[in-house]
Amino acid sequence: MKKFKWYENVVFYEIYVPSFCDGNGDGIGDLRGVILKLPYLKKLGVGGIWLTPFYPSPKADNGYDISDYRNVDPEYGSLSDFDELLETAHRMGIRVIIDMVLNHTSDRHPWFQESRKQRAGGKYRDYYIWEKEVPNNWESFFDGSAWEYDMQAGMYYYHAFSRQQVCLNWSCEAVVRECLDILAFWLERGADGFRLDVINFLKTDRSALRKENPVVDGIIQHVYDKNQPGVIDAVRRISKLVHSYPEKYLLGEVGEEDMELLHPYMGKGLLDSVFQFNLGSMRKLDAAYMGEQIVKMEAAGIYPTLFFSSHDMSRHFNRLCEKELWKAKLLAAFLLTAKGIPFLYQGEELPMEDEVLNGSGDLKDIQGRYGFEKKKKEGKSDEEAFFYALERSRDYSRGMMDWNRVNEPESDSLLHVYQRLLELRNSHASLRTGSYEGIDFSGESLYYQRVGNQEKIGVYLNFGKLNVNVPVQNVLLEIQDEDGNLKGLIRYE
Ligand code: GLC
Ligand code: CA
Repeated sequence: MKKFKWYENVVFYEIYVPSFCDGNGDGIGDLRGVILKLPYLKKLGVGGIWLTPFYPSPKADNGYDISDYRNVDPEYGSLSDFDELLETAHRMGIRVIIDMVLNHTSDRHPWFQESRKQRAGGKYRDYYIWEKEVPNNWESFFDGSAWEYDMQAGMYYYHAFSRQQVCLNWSCEAVVRECLDILAFWLERGADGFRLDVINFLKTDRSALRKENPVVDGIIQHVYDKNQPGVIDAVRRISKLVHSYPEKYLLGEVGEEDMELLHPYMGKGLLDSVFQFNLGSMRKLDAAYMGEQIVKMEAAGIYPTLFFSSHDMSRHFNRLCEKELWKAKLLAAFLLTAKGIPFLYQGEELPMEDEVLNGSGDLKDIQGRYGFEKKKKEGKSDEEAFFYALERSRDYSRGMMDWNRVNEPESDSLLHVYQRLLELRNSHASLRTGSYEGIDFSGESLYYQRVGNQEKIGVYLNFGKLNVNVPVQNVLLEIQDEDGNLKGLIRYE
């Protein structure tokens, strides 16, 4: 029988550090705040947390632009706060994985400061990707050219994201060694693993720079600027280092939906799992699609991560549930009874709602601001530019957690349902690691069984007009809509 790892047995919770909990009253979330809320997470049933970047950073992209990889940004606390967080979490049986951005550094990072000064042959010159002329039509994932002219260097550098996030050159051996050392630093401190940011974007193949990305309907596609030959080898080296420490979890963000692209990143000697975006970035609630995806992932032999929200997208309470509580309860039931590793995003259990953006002044996220700038440069009106930016901005889900809403949960509150679901998952091995049987979906309903440990649990979810229509017996959880109709049922079969 397959032995399951700790991370296949827990529910994770993503903490977006700047807006989770403010521990010192300056209005910004911090590590002290996380420590204060560990008991809340424990009570919820969470077994692992993912901390978004907390390292020193100019915060052009909220910390995904690191200027010092071995410290804590003073706004978020200190290294000793980090140690205390880790120790407290571990004492409570909660593991901590940390976000790590190895694709790019901040333009304020000392390596880049040196690199732009040096001539060819200098130690740091080759840490980044410099070209005399713009070599291709590649665009940044945040809009606009991926090449930025640097006066000091008199050359162009490559940035897949904002110009303040300069891509590291992973075909330079010294860069690989530096990155491995950074990982070792945090592992030595006791981190339980990493969430590797945009890991399939590492630039490992300079010859790819000579290839133009295809243009479809006037839009430049991202083809040669990701999943380059050599990325898997780089991942292998990272994995080797990380797994030379026992019990570590290596999770990579691979912004793809296609199983064939995802598969090569996972397995022994590679990543333990990936954030795949087939379910995560669903645009509308679609039970049949969810059913198809679980069948597909089963067939591909992928043990997936399960999530509907993160700091990069609109909250699923708005995006998928049309702010209807019963739908949020059904999606929670799916997340916490399907096969895979659930990742809850802070506040979805309350639920927090999307922030409302009224005008360009409300655009804080760099992707939204970039989009706005781009449209203005094209001569569009403020209104049109704002409209475009709204589609791209990620401010929606980054509002401060409203802790006032976490009082003793009423029995039919969403928080209560999350708590009950986590309790079910944590106490039934079949819900965590059991196999699927009887997957069935038609119209807006979805059904599956989780089977293992001599038990069989059936999950009935009905997202449409129809109700669940089977005997309500051997019940583990019932979910009703506001009118008392039975929309979800979890029972022993
Ligand atoms: C990842 C992060 C996102 C960030 C980007 C660039 O997608 O989740 O927030 O902007 O990488 O680092
Ligand atoms: Ca603070």
